[in-house]
Amino acid sequence: MSIDFDFLLEQARAAAERAYSPYSSFRVGAALLCQDGSVVTGCNVENASYSLSVCAERNALFSAVNQGKRDFLAIAIYVDDDEIFPPCGACRQVLAEFNPRLQILYANRLGSVLSDLETLLPQAFMLREP
Ligand code: THU
Repeated sequence: MSIDFDFLLEQARAAAERAYSPYSSFRVGAALLCQDGSVVTGCNVENASYSLSVCAERNALFSAVNQGKRDFLAIAIYVDDDEIFPPCGACRQVLAEFNPRLQILYANRLGSVLSDLETLLPQAFMLREP
């Protein structure tokens, strides 16, 4: 199945507009492509108690799991900035739980980079299934 990254990125960009980030002013959107072809989005949501803030990528993944989806092919991440930012380490680990080979497109206002989780998080921590 060929992945329409342009479409996925458009969803991530729209999600970034919903970011709640009054403390960092950093707007992030993520769009997760599920095996069934559906797309689940997330944005970063911050809190006055800063460490309780949650990244866009994890919000997208947690929403997807809550919708009964666990098989993911790719994620697009959009940061509303001129600098390029790959996803944070916490999100890499959480994404690896469901697909350690997930394709990852991370983008900003100026362009994008296509990578994958094997590259961004080699030797991810995994527990053997019980
Ligand atoms: N953030 C994300 O949404 N994704 C990342 O991968 C890194 C950081 C958010 C968290 C916080 O709301 C803001 O960006 C600044 O760290």
